[in-house]
Formats: sequence, C-alpha cells, structure tokens
Amino acid sequence: MASSNNKTKKPTSSFQFNLCTTLFFIVLFTIPALFLLHTPTTTSICTTLASHVKPFSGDLRLAEFAWNHLSFIQDQPPPIVLKIAVFSRKWPIGTTPGGMERHAHTLHTALARRGHQVHVFTSPPPGDTSINLQASPPSSPQLHCHEGEPGRWRYNKAWEQFVKENQQQPFDVVHSESVALPHFVARNLPNLAVSWHGIALESLQSDIFQDLTRRADEPMSPAFNSSIQGVLPKVLNEIRFFKNYAHHVAISNSCGEILRDFYQIPNKRVHVIVNGVDEEDFGKDVKLGNEFRSKIGIPSNASLVLGVAGRLVKDKGHPLLHEAYSRFITKHPNVYLIVAGSGPWENRYRDLGDQVLVLGSMSPSMLKAFYNAIDIFVNPTLRPQGLDLTLMEAMMSGKPILASRFPSIKGTIVVDDEFGFMFAPNVESFLEALEAVVEEGPERLAKRGKACREYASSMFTARKMALAYERLFLCIKDETFCTYP
Ligand SMILES: *[C@@H]1O[C@H](CO)[C@@H](O)[C@H](O)[C@H]1NC(C)=O
Ligand SMILES: *[C@@H]1O[C@H](CO)[C@@H](O)[C@H](O)[C@H]1NC(C)=O
Repeated sequence: MASSNNKTKKPTSSFQFNLCTTLFFIVLFTIPALFLLHTPTTTSICTTLASHVKPFSGDLRLAEFAWNHLSFIQDQPPPIVLKIAVFSRKWPIGTTPGGMERHAHTLHTALARRGHQVHVFTSPPPGDTSINLQASPPSSPQLHCHEGEPGRWRYNKAWEQFVKENQQQPFDVVHSESVALPHFVARNLPNLAVSWHGIALESLQSDIFQDLTRRADEPMSPAFNSSIQGVLPKVLNEIRFFKNYAHHVAISNSCGEILRDFYQIPNKRVHVIVNGVDEEDFGKDVKLGNEFRSKIGIPSNASLVLGVAGRLVKDKGHPLLHEAYSRFITKHPNVYLIVAGSGPWENRYRDLGDQVLVLGSMSPSMLKAFYNAIDIFVNPTLRPQGLDLTLMEAMMSGKPILASRFPSIKGTIVVDDEFGFMFAPNVESFLEALEAVVEEGPERLAKRGKACREYASSMFTARKMALAYERLFLCIKDETFCTYP
C-alpha cells in the first residue's frame, strides 16, 4: 500500500452485513470482493521510493501502517532492559526450520543481543543438541525446553516453567508465536503480544485457491474436504476469542486489516510489524551469482534464469508452476528455472529436462548464491496466509518478484509496480506474466531488482523488525514509550 500513503479510509459498508443470515454465502462471495476493495486498484507512477519512511507522531498504537516504516534509533542501547518471555513450539537449532520458527529465532536473538533478558519456552530439540546449547554465547536467549518427546510441543509443561520463572522476577512482556500459548491461558495476560503467521480467514481463502487448481477429473481428497468444512467454524471461533488477547501483531498489512475490520479488534491493539531477514545472510553479490550459475551448469547463452525456493509442496503452488513452466519451455529454449528446496514435487521438476535445475534444500550461504544467480524470483504460492520469508530474502538480494496476486503479497511486498509482476493463481494468468517477464529481459529486471533492494533494506531487515518489536514491548511495559518519536 505504499502508493496510497495517506491511509484514506476505504468504505466499510461491505462489512455491515448481518452475520446471522446466509453467513456461509456471504463469506464465500464477499471475501474476494473485500480484498479487492481493500487493495488500491491504481499504483501511482510518481511514487518515490524514498517515501517508505512515513512521517508520524503520536501514539504508536494508533498507527495502522507497518511499524517498519518508522525510523528507530539503533545505535543506542534500549532505555530499559526488558525481561521477555517467548512461547514458540519449536526453536531452530542447526536444522532448517519453518518460517515461524525462523522469525522467532531471528527476532529474539537480536533482542538478546541488544541486552534484553529473553527466555524462550519451547519443545525439546530433536537429536542430541546439548553441545549446541552449551555453545551459545552469553547474550543469546535463555532456552527452557520442557521435558518430553523432541519437537512435540506441550504448552502446559512450558507454562509451568514460565510460572516458576515469573514468580522469581515477573516478565515485562510475553510474546507468543501464533497459538503456541492457547487462548484460555493467554487471555488472562495483560502484557501479552501474539504474532499471527496466518489466521483462519486467510486459510479460507487459501482453501478456495487450492481447490480451484484441482482438475475436473481429480477427486477432492477426504483430508482437504474435511479441512474446507472445518474452516468456517474456525473463522467464527477466532473472531470470538481473538478479542481477548491484549496485543496482536500482524505480519502483513492485509492481516492487520482483517484483524481490525473483520475480526473487530480495536485499532489500538493491532500492530503491523513485517518480518525481517538477516542483512548479512542476504545481499547483492554479482560475482557469487555468476560463479553459482556456471557451477550448476547454466550455459552462458541462457537468456533468463528464474528461481523458486521453499518446500516443494502443493500448497506452495508447485502444481501451478510445474504446469505453466512445462508449457512455457516449449517456446523458450534458453530460459532456465532453478528449484531450491525439497518435497514431493522434486521429481516431477526433474522430469521437465535440462531447463530445470533441481538442487534440493540449501544452507543459508548456498541460498545467498542462489538468489544472486537468478534474474527474478518466482513465488506461485496458493497460501495467502502469512508471508513467505523468501520474498524478503529475494528482494534483499536485489531481485524482483513474480508472485501470486494475494492481498498479503500485494499489500506488503509488491507494493510498487516496479518491484515485479503479479498473477492470478491459475496457469493462464501465470503464463501471461511469464511472457511479460521474458519480454523485459535481464537488464530491465536488474533495474527493478535495484529498487527492490533499496526498499527491502529499509523495510525488511532483521534489525528493523527487532527495533519495532522492542518499541512495542516497551510500550506494553510502560505507556510513556508509546509516544513516537
Ligand atoms: C465432502 O464431504 C461431505 C461429507 O462430509 C460429502 O457429502 C461431500 O460429497 C464431499 N465432497 C467432495 C467434493 O468430496
Ligand atoms: C546455447 O549453448 C548451448 C551449448 O552450451 C547450445 O547447445 C545451444 O544450441 C545454444 N543455444 C542457442 C539458442 O544459441
């Protein structure tokens, strides 16, 4: 939404419907319309890229835009040291964790480095990690792994440990990653902030998009059928209990909007803080990219290189990319696709031939080279919930985006036409966008990538995210910190 900076209120009349009657049909038909209403239909061409720092003063809790737009003083230590409790189902040690755990790890490692006392309540790590635990530097978060099976989260065990620690010296703020802390425990905490990495109304939309990619002759899987039947009660349930959480952190602008406008949570308790990625791990390095290209065998006469990263599963849109790309390469013999990640779709990509390089899961340093080797990053996701960190990583590496047109991505990532291309999650629309990308060619894409890099290094750094959360936590602890600047 960067192009419509002066947050003009969109009409809310479409929300004023009677929930009690024909609710199912209303939800089914108006949600897509709502999202359309709430995303600006025009992008001003005179958007200056420097305008992403927003002028703002007053009570931060009233800010409806992402706090990443604010500037925080980073060279000074925090005004007070906070004692922070974090509830995360898992804590990444060595392994490649999911986005939510990576977020928790990046954020709380940064806060601990800034001097805060961070206590993480989590499940036992897989394997023998006692060595890793001991090797942690003194300024890292203190881990409290509850007993039991590795990787299996037991909130009641974690809660017991929290209570004990809280009795010794009370925590200033409690941070829960999604429902790590279940509602009936969390609702009693006045100093709680919950980060939502996807909410039920977004998964409803996700289910719709996923089912639409099903072929006419393909039966609906029983698991999907039962999930789709259960999602509406889940939405209603969330709307009923979310209001009891003290503070909500939405990780995208569209999620913030849903929480305020659809879940009816007071503005003052909904805050948008977009996740950030480590600046050291992802950056522009042309040489590294070129070396990577030749190492993996992309010929020097390749006209364009696309890249996709993440788990190779259905809901990340791989049926869509596979189908679109298999048609596309018949016309474009010099366009290559690098697939970074593993999952059920791996072998199907291998079957597409030499123009698809399937490289499996990657370490962070390999990922850095991968991003630098491509001309454009493709994210065909069918899940509008949450926001894939790969989008931020690609932009931070100076690459433009080709992604599904979802409110989460459109409203927070591809906020400027310059940042890339969007398509409706169907093969025809995807192919059309691919043709437009090829027509532009690598030089124009590199120029777009430069704009992406500039935006990302202001908005999507781990440091910016950590400072925004720090400010929110200070504000939860003591109201005087809520006044900005
Ligand atoms: C989904 O399950 C319901 C029963 O729970 C059944 O009536 C319906 O036919 C199923 N739909 C599909 C498309 O399989
Ligand atoms: C690109 O180079 C490869 C050899 O590296 C060659 O086989 C292919 O024909 C070339 N393509 C074009 C269009 O020049």
